[in-house]
Amino acid sequence: MSNHDIGVIGMGVMGKNLAYNIASTGYTVSVFNRSNNIIMKSLLEKPIKKVFPYLSIKEFVNSVRKPRCILLMIQSGPPVDEIIKILLSYIQSDDIIIDGGNSFYVDTIRRFNFLKQKSIQFLGVGISGGEEGALYGPSIMPGGSREAYDLVAPIFENISAKYKKEACVQYIGPDGSGHYVKMVHNGIEYSDMQLIAETYSLLKNLIGMNNVDISNIFKKWNKGELCSYLIEITEKILCKKDIDGNFILDSILDSASSKGTGTWTAKSALELYAPCSVIAESVFSRYLSIMKVNRMIASTILFGPKISLDRSFNTEAFISDLGKALYLGKIISYAQGFFLMKIASQHHHWNLQFYNIAKIFRAGCIIRADLLNNIVTSYNENNDLIDLLFSPIFQEISNAYHVSLRNIISVAVQNGISIPVFSSALSYYDGYRTVNSSANLIQAQRDYFGSHTYQRIDQSGTFHTNWS
Ligand code: 6PG
Repeated sequence: MSNHDIGVIGMGVMGKNLAYNIASTGYTVSVFNRSNNIIMKSLLEKPIKKVFPYLSIKEFVNSVRKPRCILLMIQSGPPVDEIIKILLSYIQSDDIIIDGGNSFYVDTIRRFNFLKQKSIQFLGVGISGGEEGALYGPSIMPGGSREAYDLVAPIFENISAKYKKEACVQYIGPDGSGHYVKMVHNGIEYSDMQLIAETYSLLKNLIGMNNVDISNIFKKWNKGELCSYLIEITEKILCKKDIDGNFILDSILDSASSKGTGTWTAKSALELYAPCSVIAESVFSRYLSIMKVNRMIASTILFGPKISLDRSFNTEAFISDLGKALYLGKIISYAQGFFLMKIASQHHHWNLQFYNIAKIFRAGCIIRADLLNNIVTSYNENNDLIDLLFSPIFQEISNAYHVSLRNIISVAVQNGISIPVFSSALSYYDGYRTVNSSANLIQAQRDYFGSHTYQRIDQSGTFHTNWS
């Protein structure tokens, strides 16, 4: 009987690449797919060193050494419950099931508790980095049984991305915390991408720049404080040509899809009373983008200013402001994401260590960026930091860059260019630093029509007024 180090179920691109990655670091890997897909067929015909395909789940499970460690790389949702149910007939107490998909953290909490009753250890693991990351080193966010994590940690540490030789994997916390952190990572990913898309729109539509020139701007920015994976790929996307010699980007339909993690982040923020407006707005921006037909109708019946290419402003100064606005927008988006994780950590008693989370985001994952070094520094000084924007380094940047954010927003607004996430970031920033807001009026209105009561600033207690 074989005694392989780990089993991987799900031979889609991510599962295959992770299995190859694990095998390349010296571990033996059993692999199984519910259907005999192309990858399984090719593995059976042309074996890969240390990767062992099995056609029966029983043989697959029996081929893994005990306590068995079985990594699921399958579609999130009901398929995860189905495969767990099947596995339960073959595995034993203390075996470890690892869900490496983008599962909803609430499902992960439920599965963790269900499997605990059966003495099966469960890890819900966020894995970021796309296909390439899975093969060469992803950022890994494991949550669930600490005991199980300690058993699999050497494998994760070997296969993960490295930031200056440091493995981008850290135990996140109990039950669904790993998948929660991955979900928020994706929420930040949404706003990061939307901010870059709005920047592209301003350079293209307002300044009238071509793809190559825009690409060069991103290239330049990628050498400075904005250096990040998403800026780097944007630079490349902008100049990629099709076989007909035209830019591929110019032929792509402007309807952005989504698989749900951004929506979950926004929903969680709403449930936890965390004002993640920038992240939520980036989800709504995708929803607006898919309403292509409505937008086509609206463009003919709803009027706004025409974009003026004979600029009354200095282009160079505008581009410089745009870079700073992008950086500040990005900071606000990360600050909202980390704030949400803080609230969730308190709510679920996860004791999240934000220093560790920021550290493992620095390589392998989609939101990897130089900015994370400042976040690491901020949390290294204080894990209980109320808000990233309160850390000295981000205070300094915000105070220096908010003028740029205002400048680019006012030009965009005057020209009728939609920049929802930039605008949302500034509104949040200004709302945050407002001591006396207009919410007193909201309270009065609530009390007027519903006797909902209010509190006063000059007396303690709860009050109601007979307004009429
Ligand atoms: C990652 C990515 C990955 C996936 C997104 C895409 O971290 O590797 O986030 O998980 O590409 O889920 O999400 P949308 O389809 O919703 O854009």
